[in-house]
Amino acid sequence: MDLAPLYRRMGKHSWKILDSIFRNLWDYEYVPVQLIAHQARIGEEKTRNILRYLSDLRIVTNKQREYEGSTFTFLGLSLYSLHRLVKSGKVSMIGKKMGEGKESAIFNCYSDKFGEAVIKFHKVGHVSFKKVKELRSYGDLHFSVLAIRSAKNEFGALRKLRGLAVPEAYAWEGNAVLMELIEAKELYKVKVENPDDVLDMILEEVGKFYRRGVVHGDLSQYNVLVSEDGIWIIDFPQSVEVGSEGWRELLQRDIENILSYFRRAYGIEKDINFVLKEYGLE
Ligand SMILES: Nc1ncnc2c1ncn2[C@@H]1O[C@H](COP(=O)(O)OP(=O)(O)OP(=O)(O)O)[C@@H](O)[C@H]1O
Ligand SMILES: [Mg+2]
Repeated sequence: MDLAPLYRRMGKHSWKILDSIFRNLWDYEYVPVQLIAHQARIGEEKTRNILRYLSDLRIVTNKQREYEGSTFTFLGLSLYSLHRLVKSGKVSMIGKKMGEGKESAIFNCYSDKFGEAVIKFHKVGHVSFKKVKELRSYGDLHFSVLAIRSAKNEFGALRKLRGLAVPEAYAWEGNAVLMELIEAKELYKVKVENPDDVLDMILEEVGKFYRRGVVHGDLSQYNVLVSEDGIWIIDFPQSVEVGSEGWRELLQRDIENILSYFRRAYGIEKDINFVLKEYGLE
């Protein structure tokens, strides 16, 4: 996935067409061609041609059965979300891809407003069962809707945790979250010199999150970054509010994951009940 060269190949009409697909995502998995043509104010034949061009670039997927319609690919939704960040003045330049996994792709970017930053493009949905039920009432569940919800959830959590040891979240558009660039390494990749202090810092932070009403929900050595300046906790799409269904089990699992990593990697033994009491997590 390379966004900059693709971005340059998009014309005014292409963006209008993508705008219309985006506006109708909640009502249609495949947005009808007639509706796109109408909203984009482009003739139907020309709309079809542009949609074919966008499909050749793997930005959309077109279907012909039942009715003619188009939907975003992950690449297309990410490109369109980037466009919204650019239009709103939040992003000035997209840089290189820093990493791409099963669940997201992370890019460097530059913002006149915020300086060097990163964009995380969400690929899959991380929504709680309750939210999935909510979603059913206003449209079909499909990849784009879920990825957007997931980005929204991550942005919301990062906003609530502002000022704590998390990247500062600057903006959310579509499946993209624009956030502070953290220059640090994943915990599992390094051997820290002061594991007791690092574990203490992580648990302190989990306690602070809890007091702001947030449970991470996927805490592990993969989602903690460390450097000489300290620790950061990242990756919040599956976070839940304290008090929502299953939050206590998630909190316990988060802590157990961290404790078991420090046990295996550094031989540090800490009892979960002691930790819950010590860090004000009861
Ligand atoms: N704000 C950031 N600053 C610097 N690097 C980041 C930032 N956010 C994420 N990364 C890097 O990208 C990687 C993946 O990010 P994250 O854990 O948020 O996504 P993920 O959904 O787990 O992705 P994956 O499917 O690749 O595991 C992180 O391990 C980290 O190396
Ligand atoms: Mg992760």
